[in-house]
Amino acid sequence: MTHRRPDELPVVQFRARPDVIDLGWGHPHPAALPTDAWATATAGALRRYGSAALSYGYAAGPGPLVEWLTERLGRVDAYRPEADQVFVTAGASQALDLLAGAVCRPGDAVLVDAPTYHLALRIVADHRVDLVAAPTDRDGLDPAGTAELVRSLRRRGRRVPMLYLVPTFNNPTGRSLPSDRRAGLVAMAEEAGLLVVEDDTYRELSYDGPAPASLFSTAATGTVARVGSFSKTVAPGLRLGWLTADAGLVAGLHRRGHVDSGGGVNHTTALTMAEFAADGGYDRHLSGILARYRRQRDALVTAVRRHLPDARFDVPGGGWFLWLRSGADRVDLPGPDELLARAEAAGVSYLEGTWFYPGRAAGRDRIRLSFSRLDPAELAEGVRRLAGALTDGDA
Ligand SMILES: Cc1ncc(COP(=O)(O)O)c(C=O)c1O
Repeated sequence: MTHRRPDELPVVQFRARPDVIDLGWGHPHPAALPTDAWATATAGALRRYGSAALSYGYAAGPGPLVEWLTERLGRVDAYRPEADQVFVTAGASQALDLLAGAVCRPGDAVLVDAPTYHLALRIVADHRVDLVAAPTDRDGLDPAGTAELVRSLRRRGRRVPMLYLVPTFNNPTGRSLPSDRRAGLVAMAEEAGLLVVEDDTYRELSYDGPAPASLFSTAATGTVARVGSFSKTVAPGLRLGWLTADAGLVAGLHRRGHVDSGGGVNHTTALTMAEFAADGGYDRHLSGILARYRRQRDALVTAVRRHLPDARFDVPGGGWFLWLRSGADRVDLPGPDELLARAEAAGVSYLEGTWFYPGRAAGRDRIRLSFSRLDPAELAEGVRRLAGALTDGDA
């Protein structure tokens, strides 16, 4: 048996491909990850909390982080949650998985916005439910059409417990749901007795002004559960996020066997985050990465305007993505698979639009470009290559 050295063993999800500028991955820029500040916070948390930092933790998440989080949410959103409405999770992904587990039964119909975060579709589908795309138009999810869809599914005997969407800086579109749609959606969900799961992962990555108030902040208790994350603002390897929901739903999560058995889901990391965030540490870090991602967003937008002057897209006000019409629906261009192969041969990659729809049933003419992981010069070169591939195949 041959032994590999530790530095030869797999460590990260990202796979670099030589000669390919990869606009497909929604990962942070390596230079935005606060390795030194995290080392300082780790030492600080161990000094401050001693053995309590390495003990089994409080089920809902350590008090210092929950308190900081409620205060922070009160500043960056329209409502400061109560501590008993907060549950600290292993990322937004686990928060969504826990919520789906709490309200779904196999065979249910779960409504999802479309296009939406492609891996959320997998997390929800793991609960053996059927994903049903909610009706949308140019402004996003249509509350009246969704109400009608819920009624018609229920008339046919289906349980419809939940609706998932990313209303603020959506992945993949970068768009936010307008305020009248937000109000309509919350009213519709209250009326229909539907739990809205609001994925608020990108709230703090807002480049042109404050993000809109969350659905959670405006809804009657119990209508919306909101999931959030430190993956984009601090680091995904922490596996740290949270949810805010009705206190009864949160208490049900504390009582889950694995939470009780494990003493919360991520105690030491959560306590270290409280240390990292203390005394303005989080704000200082955030302002640095906002400047970085704003620059990268602007570089991508400028490159697309320059190299693909006919492309139509919305400039994302936040998040990490640009949602572009690829032309793959045009008769003079090849279909999505061939177009991607052509782009990769030209040294650039992206994510095909179909991933963002349940059953990959739409989005053939769309691609998602991520500006998060690449420097401005790499983004410009990537788009130059992409333009060659999308127009005549020559980079
Ligand atoms: C909308 C959305 N939700 C959730 C996640 C995953 O978050 P986490 O790393 O906190 O599980 C992502 C990551 O790409 C995302 O874009």
